[in-house]
Amino acid sequence: MSEWVLLLGGSTGHGGATAKRLAKDGYGIIAFHFDRGDAKKIAEETISEVNELSNGRCHYFNTNAAAEETINEFLPKIKEITNGAKLKLLLHSIAFGTTTNFFGNKPVTQRQMDMTVHVMGNSILYWTQKLFSEKLLGKGSRVIGLTSEGNYLAMEGYGPVSVAKVAMEAVLRQIGWELGEHGITANAIQAGVTPTRALTKITDRWEDWVESTKSRNPMRRTTTPEDIAGTISMLLRPEADFINCSIIYCDGGEHRSGAI
Ligand SMILES: NC(=O)c1ccc[n+]([C@@H]2O[C@H](COP(=O)([O-])OP(=O)(O)OC[C@H]3O[C@@H](n4cnc5c(N)ncnc54)[C@H](O)[C@@H]3O)[C@@H](O)[C@H]2O)c1
Repeated sequence: MSEWVLLLGGSTGHGGATAKRLAKDGYGIIAFHFDRGDAKKIAEETISEVNELSNGRCHYFNTNAAAEETINEFLPKIKEITNGAKLKLLLHSIAFGTTTNFFGNKPVTQRQMDMTVHVMGNSILYWTQKLFSEKLLGKGSRVIGLTSEGNYLAMEGYGPVSVAKVAMEAVLRQIGWELGEHGITANAIQAGVTPTRALTKITDRWEDWVESTKSRNPMRRTTTPEDIAGTISMLLRPEADFINCSIIYCDGGEHRSGAI
């Protein structure tokens, strides 16, 4: 198979697991991550595993994928890697934003809000626009972003990310609506609470969240990055060609279950 996928946020958590899964499925992996310090060491382990699984068809770039300059700089490189062939997938799995409340000791600032909504929401649009105009997306390509229950629930410290999730869902819906006629689909996957690095940044009480999620989840566990990777793998099959402008839940039914 000669198909390539592009993962924004492909080193840890959902994106890291997806890179491994899709490499096993036979896809070449092009991925961005933004890791420093200890996170960089974890990223290096993922990269060497993906490199092995993909027989070396793997390119990771450690830089801010939400910056316009990055898109412009790397588009020609991506085209060169795929040899001009269309990408099977553009995945947004970036976790990078301000986690603070709107009021209280550290009320969110306009700069923090704008940054969070751009990086975790709107940036998928600018990637899609440029990839589409470069003919790197076409019939059978998927655009997928990750959303969460925070798209309709208010939670401690989650306000800015919550706004970004709602923005991303609207962006994906509109992408799917406008590009559907080209055979390109756009969908959001709603993951349940997943113990990843990003979760630990939302609140100091993340371990309590994990425990309460386990008891309220109908399947009595939290979501794993491998659950999401498996869902994305399924969505790349031709049988999923007609799934568009949708939110796909991968959370064991968590979103249907209130607090116990
Ligand atoms: N963990 C959860 O409970 C949960 C639930 C639902 C949805 N999500 C969503 O899943 C997505 C991935 O989060 P995760 O939990 O896997 O977190 P994670 O921290 O494990 O992974 C985040 C990834 O984003 C990359 N990244 C961060 N900033 C970047 C930037 N500017 N440019 C390029 N790469 C960047 C990191 O290097 C890493 O690869 C996020 O959108 C998150 O909101 C997470």
